[in-house]
Amino acid sequence: MPNGQDIDIDSVEVIVRDPRPVVSEPVEKEALRSYKDKKPVDHVIGQTKILAIINQKGGVGKTTTAIDLAAALGELNKAVLLVDLDPQGNASSGLGIEKNDLEHCIYDVLLDDVPIEDIIIPDIYPGLDLAPATINLAGAEVELVSEMARENRLKEAIGSLRGKYDFIIIDCPPSLGLLTVNAFVAADKLLIPIQCEFYALEGVTKLLDSMKRVKSRLNPSLDIYGVLLTMYDNRTTLSKQVVDEVRGYFGSVVFDTMIPRTVKLSEAPSFGQPITYYDPKGKGSIAYLELAKEVINRG
Ligand SMILES: Nc1ncnc2c1ncn2[C@@H]1O[C@H](COP(=O)(O)OP(=O)(O)O)[C@@H](O)[C@H]1O
Ligand SMILES: [Mg+2]
Repeated sequence: MPNGQDIDIDSVEVIVRDPRPVVSEPVEKEALRSYKDKKPVDHVIGQTKILAIINQKGGVGKTTTAIDLAAALGELNKAVLLVDLDPQGNASSGLGIEKNDLEHCIYDVLLDDVPIEDIIIPDIYPGLDLAPATINLAGAEVELVSEMARENRLKEAIGSLRGKYDFIIIDCPPSLGLLTVNAFVAADKLLIPIQCEFYALEGVTKLLDSMKRVKSRLNPSLDIYGVLLTMYDNRTTLSKQVVDEVRGYFGSVVFDTMIPRTVKLSEAPSFGQPITYYDPKGKGSIAYLELAKEVINRG
């Protein structure tokens, strides 16, 4: 593919690989690669789009979407960086990164001026790099409070990466604290996953209020990029009602693609694999690839 901007997405042949063999015995660990070993990107990178995956509710599919959308964009020949901004580090472990092996994580970038390139693990999956988190990040929420320009730390850190990736995707913690505010400030736009369940829209007003506050003071171009319905179950009327309710509330900003509830999506992280590897032909994989195409077409 000569130029990532001019391709007809629907004509892209997605190479579906067999999942990696499941390893039950400990294998000798490959040393972690560093940014200087990163493979050169084989296409011209246009404007980098920075998307924060935000919803202060836990368990709505943020991390699943961060991992599987990022990997699907990588499969479609985009250069993607996934930034794990949740102290739980589920996006890191879900990609098979052992947090105990890490010397630095995003905490050191936010609080100790470590350049982000120094923590990036390149080429974990095709097109996909990771800026990992460890439990150290839990301290950041408190420690940032007394810092100068505390809301701008992430923005400053990833500024140097514009032009190096097609997409930077930030997986946010389930709160509206300072880490999430850093994501609001660093992001171009927000991707909001909403789970198809009772009280789906609960908390959304608060989320939108926070967005508006950051928009008026710190990041004037901030807006919603897309709303994603997750864990959709077409057998229940509840799911259908939630879809109507969310589409009624948000309108066309809701993605056409809905992510089905499937056990494969919940199993994949324990194998350290995105769904496109773990179950490449399954409906979870197909849904995230469809979402990735919608994201690319939205520009
Ligand atoms: N589409 C889905 N189908 C089935 N299980 C899902 C799906 N999406 C997420 N899960 C599971 O639901 C739980 C919460 O998802 P997660 O992505 O970690 O949410 P969050 O990051 O918002 O807390 C996890 O156990 C995850 O594996
Ligand atoms: Mg999460």
